[in-house]
Amino acid sequence: MIKKIINKRVIIRARLGFRYIVKYFSDEIFEAFNPDYSVLKPLDVVIERTYSCNLRCQTCFRWTSKPNEKELNFKEWTAVIEKLKNWIGTFSLSITGGEPFLREDMIDIINFATTKDITTTVGSNATLIDKKLAERIVSSGLDSLALSLNSVTPGVHNRMRGDEGNFGDVMRVIELLKNRGNMWLSLGTTIINENISELVDLAEFTRDKGLDGITFQPLMETSSLPIFDEKGESRQLPEGKYFKELGKNSNGIDEVFERLITMKTEGYPINNSARHLSYMCKYLKNPLDPEILKLPCKIGSKNFPIDPFGNVRICSLMEPIGNLRDDLPEKIWNSDKARNQRQMIRKCRKSCRILTCTFKNLDLGFKLRKLSRSFPEVFKKGADK
Ligand SMILES: C[S@@+](CC[C@H](N)C(=O)[O-])C[C@H]1O[C@@H](n2cnc3c(N)ncnc32)[C@H](O)[C@@H]1O
Ligand code: SF4
Ligand code: SF4
Repeated sequence: MIKKIINKRVIIRARLGFRYIVKYFSDEIFEAFNPDYSVLKPLDVVIERTYSCNLRCQTCFRWTSKPNEKELNFKEWTAVIEKLKNWIGTFSLSITGGEPFLREDMIDIINFATTKDITTTVGSNATLIDKKLAERIVSSGLDSLALSLNSVTPGVHNRMRGDEGNFGDVMRVIELLKNRGNMWLSLGTTIINENISELVDLAEFTRDKGLDGITFQPLMETSSLPIFDEKGESRQLPEGKYFKELGKNSNGIDEVFERLITMKTEGYPINNSARHLSYMCKYLKNPLDPEILKLPCKIGSKNFPIDPFGNVRICSLMEPIGNLRDDLPEKIWNSDKARNQRQMIRKCRKSCRILTCTFKNLDLGFKLRKLSRSFPEVFKKGADK
């Protein structure tokens, strides 16, 4: 009976969870001896499916990028995923952008990765998800969908997203995905001065709606979300008006984060660890807080980011270390270029090390609780006894 309930996806998620734990502790040990060399393979592969976007967020200027036919097509992405699978085995594939659902092959890519026993996550602005697409998403085998929601006040969210209807879009998709089987549905919130006072309400909202989690991410300079063309040339972006305001008014920030940390211990589905939340609090009061700059940036060992043209960039502000159209991922990961960049990463003085993707994090208790929500029937049975 239990065998029936714990389906294959849950076993894959659990197996990957175990690999995360092993990797976390191995990296800790090996880092002390040879930080330029990442002994274990990365487990987080991040694909930027396209830089194109249909919103006009004031925190991210990806929407200024022009559609580019040199972006990898479906066949090329499946070849890339296949190469990664042969090298890494099971891994976590996050697909982001731009707006990934602008590409019509998204469901096919998810389907393909799922059949290869890879866990998949998509980050979306919700605009394009109607009833039909919602049904296709659930049946594609997608493990996790993250929708961006910056405020429970429609006006604040819509202003940040540059679109009067986007709050409504997110609410519609939450409703459409009430019955989502084993798929996790979570929220992603980018923090600026204006929404700090709403973070507690956002965590309440997440729980009240029965969502699987909320991930907070402090605003970074827009340069941390660069746009490149097919030749790898990047475009200079404005710093962003919201970024200039960060740290100017610290009133009430400590209280908000103390409450969030307490809520987490009370079982609210907050994806960030308590440690991450407390560093975020420091950052929002002073984005150049020396304590943050002392933290190691984990980008060189944790992530394997691929831009829409197949370029691998361990840090998006550095040169690509190779292109997956031409090379094998293991060759790129273990190359001299990668090794040199790991040295540069250690010397870097930027604060984007506290982004969710770069922060050193192992929130074991939360990961187990989240996994348990994949097979609630088993736990319910245990609790009923
Ligand atoms: C670049 S978007 C791509 C996926 C999708 N278009 C979306 O908005 O969810 C990924 C996440 O980055 C966040 N983001 C945008 N600008 C940011 C910034 N300057 N600093 C940190 N995160 C930012 C967005 O709010 C979103 O949650
Ligand atoms: S944050 Fe997402 S929705 Fe907004 S412009 Fe950037 S890519 Fe588009
Ligand atoms: S902290 Fe430095 S090395 Fe790390 S992601 Fe940011 S710019 Fe790159």
